[in-house]
Amino acid sequence: MTTSFEDVASLDVLGAIAHDCTRCALADSRTNVVFGSGSGTAQVMIVGEGPGQQEDEQGLPFVGRSGQLLEALLGEIGLTRDDVYIANVVKCRPPSNRDPRPDEIDACKGFLRRQIELVDPTVVVTLGNFSTKLLLRTEVGITRMRGVAYEWWGRYLVPTFHPAAALRGGDRVTDDIRADLALVRAVIDGRLPSGTGDDGRSGPGQRPLDQGATDDPQLDLFGEPT
Ligand code: URA
Repeated sequence: MTTSFEDVASLDVLGAIAHDCTRCALADSRTNVVFGSGSGTAQVMIVGEGPGQQEDEQGLPFVGRSGQLLEALLGEIGLTRDDVYIANVVKCRPPSNRDPRPDEIDACKGFLRRQIELVDPTVVVTLGNFSTKLLLRTEVGITRMRGVAYEWWGRYLVPTFHPAAALRGGDRVTDDIRADLALVRAVIDGRLPSGTGDDGRSGPGQRPLDQGATDDPQLDLFGEPT
């Protein structure tokens, strides 16, 4: 069962708990815990995968090459990194940048859940497969999931490619991220209509989440019993 942290009243206190965390083996190899950064009242919250080397060294998310691209693309929709809140699925760097393991994600996801509750953003942007699969509770890959804003737990979730994929994949991937961030801009400008049409889409790029389990009041964000 995931630690809920539901009694933790602020990001500062939650961060302090994370900084002492030894819930998984990543604690043994980390330099710093990368809890999150940015505005604690942001309308937009960005969720990546896990810290890389530079993030581990500096204790801040997205400060390497992926972060530079992310900042540039956020700038195109009029946002700076201080306007948003940035966090990751796992708060400690997996050695040699390997993928985070299921037990590590399980051990860490309570932090992310409480970060989302405390920041209370209008829209969550998931970067890449790990955050998208965790938060949308799907096995479907990012290539198929992206391109729409999902109605999600009383807010919106916009999945898009990880900027590292754009660094590898070039202009097409970058343009897809741009298109997804335009949806984010539309959400925060109130330009995304609500309601659902016959085809399951109600407006440009909007879709209610069709994972039935998220509607189940007995289950929480991660499909665990409440
Ligand atoms: N990639 C991520 O997913 N998160 C970071 O913080 C940096 C790179």
